[in-house]
Amino acid sequence: METMLNTHPVLMNPPSVQLDQVEALLASQVDANRFPLDAALAQLISAGGKRIRPRLALLTGGLLAADPAPLLHLAAAIEMLHTATLIHDDLVDGASLRRGVETLNAHTSAAASVLVGDFAFTRAARLVLGTGSLAAVDMFTEAMATVVNGELVQLARPRGIANREEYFEWIGAKTATLFELCTGAPALLSRIDAEAASSARRFGYAIGVAFQIMDDVLDFTSDAAHLGKPSGQDLRQGILTLPALIYLEAHPDNPNLRLLINRQRLPEAELNQLVNSIRQSGSIEGAVNVASGFIHDGLNVLGELPDGPERFELENIVHSIIDKNL
Ligand code: IPE
Ligand code: IPE
Ligand code: MG
Ligand code: MG
Repeated sequence: METMLNTHPVLMNPPSVQLDQVEALLASQVDANRFPLDAALAQLISAGGKRIRPRLALLTGGLLAADPAPLLHLAAAIEMLHTATLIHDDLVDGASLRRGVETLNAHTSAAASVLVGDFAFTRAARLVLGTGSLAAVDMFTEAMATVVNGELVQLARPRGIANREEYFEWIGAKTATLFELCTGAPALLSRIDAEAASSARRFGYAIGVAFQIMDDVLDFTSDAAHLGKPSGQDLRQGILTLPALIYLEAHPDNPNLRLLINRQRLPEAELNQLVNSIRQSGSIEGAVNVASGFIHDGLNVLGELPDGPERFELENIVHSIIDKNL
């Protein structure tokens, strides 16, 4: 499983020397033999993951001629921040599997999971400080605040997400913001002008939205063996993502979806039936089409950035977001 996640055919290609350096930086933040906190975090880091965020940061930084050493710290910091959010996300979601290994919350206490997540945030902060750029630290902490606030807004809502507008607001905050950081922060380590820096941010945001839509599609269409994490979970937790929302647009009176929006539980048999109905409807295809639109927008904005050898690799990564047959 881990091997499979690490050898994604499309995501293997970017600058391997730099990626190795990022891995070394990540590993240097934890001492697996020291405290239990370190060991737990080290295990999750070494379990792999697609590393799409550091790849985007390195390649965008290359395209913008960012200062190389700070760029490595930035890429590692963002991956560490992502890892921290996953630890807390799995606790909140009650998920049992991540990157093909048992989650912390599945085998230790909630308290330990919160603390290991917090510890990962401190390591991310240390890494971003290593960029030596106050502007990068500022963008990093703002992104963190947006991600956390997005999740809080979602929790505080009296009813669940019931339309596209609410959905886009949510995924923009929790996922696209981090992608925007991946492509926007490298601009702060380079000499490019404000207009190009803004394009770099918009590029990341657009593909981040597409990335989360595809994650939500895969939750309906894939399985744990391929994803390294449980599937079929979103609706089960009462969360309507884009496929379910598109289905709702076509069946506005569906009583079971209404119950879920009102945060009520559904019997397992009804849930399974609903998941099957959504799978068999055109809603999955509809959601993939929406993701393709964001990919298209992202590629257009990428076209506004300077040309360079990294462009081709960036385009490959962007296409892999919707092409992956996971
Ligand atoms: C999972 O991110 C969380 C989402 C934003 C959907 P990834 O799919 O990038 O997870 P890893 O890093 O590859 O495990
Ligand atoms: C992404 O959403 C959550 C974070 C921003 C950490 P999901 O809840 O869909 O991510 P997975 O599916 O658990 O990876
Ligand atoms: Mg989750
Ligand atoms: Mg998901």
